[in-house]
Amino acid sequence: MMAQHRALFFSAVVALLAGCASESPRTVEDFNFGWKFTLGDSPEWSAPEFDDSAWRDLHLPHDWSVEGEFSATNPSTPGGGALPGGIGWYRKTFATPEGAEHVFVEFDGVFMNSTVWVNGVELGTRPYGYSSFSYEITDLLDRRESLACVQNVIAVRCDNADQPNSRWYAGCGIYRDVRLVTTGSAYVEYDGMYVTTPFVSDETAVVHAEVSVAGDADGVVFRILDPDGRKVTSAEGANCGDGRWAADLEISWPRRWDIEETNLYNMVVEVSADGAVSDSYSRRFGVRTCKWDVDHGFFLNDRALKLLGVCLHHDQGCLGTAVHRRALERELGILKDMGVNAIRTSHNPPSPVLLDLCDEMGFLVIDEAMDMWRKRKTEFDYSRFFDEWHERDVQDFVRRDRNHPCVFMWSVGNEILEQWNSSEDDVANLSAEQANLLMNFMSSLPQYEAGDDNPNILLTKHMAALVKELDPTRPVTAGCNETQPTNNLLRSGALDVYGFNYHTWDYDKVREWYPDKPLYGSETASSLNSRGFYPQPSTDVQRQPREWWMTYETPHHQCPAYDSMCAPWADLHEHAWVAIRDREYMAGTFLWTGFDYLGEPTPYSWPSRSSYFGVVDLAGFPKDIYWMYQSEWRPDLTVMHLFPHWNWSEGDLVDVWCYYSGADEVELFLNGKSLGRSRKQGEQLRAQWLSVPWEAGKIEAVSYKDGAEVAREARVTTGAPVSLKLTADRSEIAADGYDLCYVTVEALDEMGRPVPVADDMLHFEVDGSGELFGIDNGNAADTLCLKGHDKALFAGKALAVVRSLKGEAGIATLSVSSSYASTKLNITVK
Ligand code: GAL
Repeated sequence: MMAQHRALFFSAVVALLAGCASESPRTVEDFNFGWKFTLGDSPEWSAPEFDDSAWRDLHLPHDWSVEGEFSATNPSTPGGGALPGGIGWYRKTFATPEGAEHVFVEFDGVFMNSTVWVNGVELGTRPYGYSSFSYEITDLLDRRESLACVQNVIAVRCDNADQPNSRWYAGCGIYRDVRLVTTGSAYVEYDGMYVTTPFVSDETAVVHAEVSVAGDADGVVFRILDPDGRKVTSAEGANCGDGRWAADLEISWPRRWDIEETNLYNMVVEVSADGAVSDSYSRRFGVRTCKWDVDHGFFLNDRALKLLGVCLHHDQGCLGTAVHRRALERELGILKDMGVNAIRTSHNPPSPVLLDLCDEMGFLVIDEAMDMWRKRKTEFDYSRFFDEWHERDVQDFVRRDRNHPCVFMWSVGNEILEQWNSSEDDVANLSAEQANLLMNFMSSLPQYEAGDDNPNILLTKHMAALVKELDPTRPVTAGCNETQPTNNLLRSGALDVYGFNYHTWDYDKVREWYPDKPLYGSETASSLNSRGFYPQPSTDVQRQPREWWMTYETPHHQCPAYDSMCAPWADLHEHAWVAIRDREYMAGTFLWTGFDYLGEPTPYSWPSRSSYFGVVDLAGFPKDIYWMYQSEWRPDLTVMHLFPHWNWSEGDLVDVWCYYSGADEVELFLNGKSLGRSRKQGEQLRAQWLSVPWEAGKIEAVSYKDGAEVAREARVTTGAPVSLKLTADRSEIAADGYDLCYVTVEALDEMGRPVPVADDMLHFEVDGSGELFGIDNGNAADTLCLKGHDKALFAGKALAVVRSLKGEAGIATLSVSSSYASTKLNITVK
């Protein structure tokens, strides 16, 4: 699978053009390999002649921050993941591509403040680490014909020294893909294609395509390939001036893109110049319709669809932010199994790989631009770049993502502080210099009209207009934590769909306040759970910390796995979900969050360094609440999930919960003796038995429908661990240097049963055709390095991630040992 995806990714155009008359001069080279890296800073490091032989060899994507040690004193603070930041440099030597008229280097994302040089010439800087960008390097390349192999040097400086600058872990380095692209004399500009479907019916789809072409093109041909790669139709483009070419094409009986069937068409464009093909370029697109209704929510392809969404930050646990397709595919796969159908890319433009996967796997995506505008949330955040960069960043982001069928809304921001007026907005309160700056900024916006005195409303209009200018086909939204009609973002009138973060208690009011707008929960729940941690009783419901600016202290730094703790601004999962489920006008939910993420360890601070909000922990192991959602969101399954474990002590009174579906009620048996039946009631979406006096043995739940047994699940009291069990997600991975094998480690007792409370320290090694790429256990308060070799089991589980080595087919052997056992697992690398 993996090798196929990669090959597709990097040779898409070539493959797509198979069967066409002419060969494309466009080449797209994977530029991730052969880099040198060091931490530190020196102006000399951009010079081509600098000797970097002592620097570390690595390949991208790379995040140096996650390789470091967690520490309370790292300037990122526990809120930013408690990992190091700083300045890092990358250098790579490469040959001048032969025969290319134009050469570009494309970066999907560099965190942050990247500056790029080629052969000592500075190309530019991009402060926002989530933006993708491209530089033309044609004229900087060494073209001396006398040299057999001409060498060039690219140097990239990443500056993430000023911290804190993020409310979550953001990572450091060239953490997304880099490509080297060549074209002929006339070529499609970077992200220069836009495909829309202005008319869609069962019989026909009208497809409008336009491209921005640089250079002197003689003509442009558009060609549509169907999801099987067969040519459907083609059309000559009309020259619209200024390098823009466009065509309208038609597909008969179009195959819709849907979350259940992800039909992806390709728009291939061929540019000719001087009588020959000068460039060919393609982007995938989908034929689908989206409709919003203030009373009935959202419709995909004319079918009402409740948005069962999760918010996701961009890190991949122990991989940090380094984007690996397999890691994202695994994350989305776990969420898909839970019943998730939508993702909110909180709070920044995601990796293009995530959007490719959402296109392929069937998720709708709210694509979000940023977490702040001009008003800052952390000391060194993007607000300091906003005035100069927001226009460029927002428009680059829309241009990049607007062909993805998965993207169905643009979010111009999360909990933007401009929702409220403050003294910073009132010219009368400001110093002359500050007032001048503000007035200059306001009057620089095209939406400014003389007399405008609310910069926040003006800015909202401006942000929405930036998006609409490039994509009028999708609604613009924002995640708002102010529900009142005084909210500047809402009263600007510029947003199409209103997203509310939390505030379930206001849902019916917002319905009255904004009768003309579709509504949804852009952020819900923020419940707090640790996997496998069961303080008794489960009925001790807590909101922690007591106030949002405080932290909570416990010796264990864990939160209950029962749905019994949430943040003070938030709701328990069951309540948050029912509030959306039972209101047809609420188009859906985006619960905070699908997976745990590094940073924001609410309700605790150090040594906690990652979140407790996830339905799935940082290692990718579901918490119990996962099955509550599955029981509600997957009507196709019969769900049965009993917890907690049954390893307790004499005299313990234990609350037993069971999430189930496809049944009317559940009966609990302790060592064969019935403890009675229980069922879901109102907002309580579980069966439960409180204060069960523990005795060793077996606790078993049996569900019934119309009196007949449907399913059963048991937990048994185990003995002490005596051996280790390794379970790989896949037995074979590709030898491409990217593919990953996720291995779950469990401790077993003498009878071979997993011990759910095992917490033994483990040691990990990998030999052969792979490398140990990360280790984790999902414990948010574990301060051992995620890239080290030692990690304890947490609630009976640990994870090792093995990455293949490029070009080294063979066997990768993972060895895991504890004080009482050691075991090995062989992974085939092909
Ligand atoms: C929201 C915010 C998220 C996250 C969450 C935690 O207010 O938008 O980024 O901080 O709270 O509950």
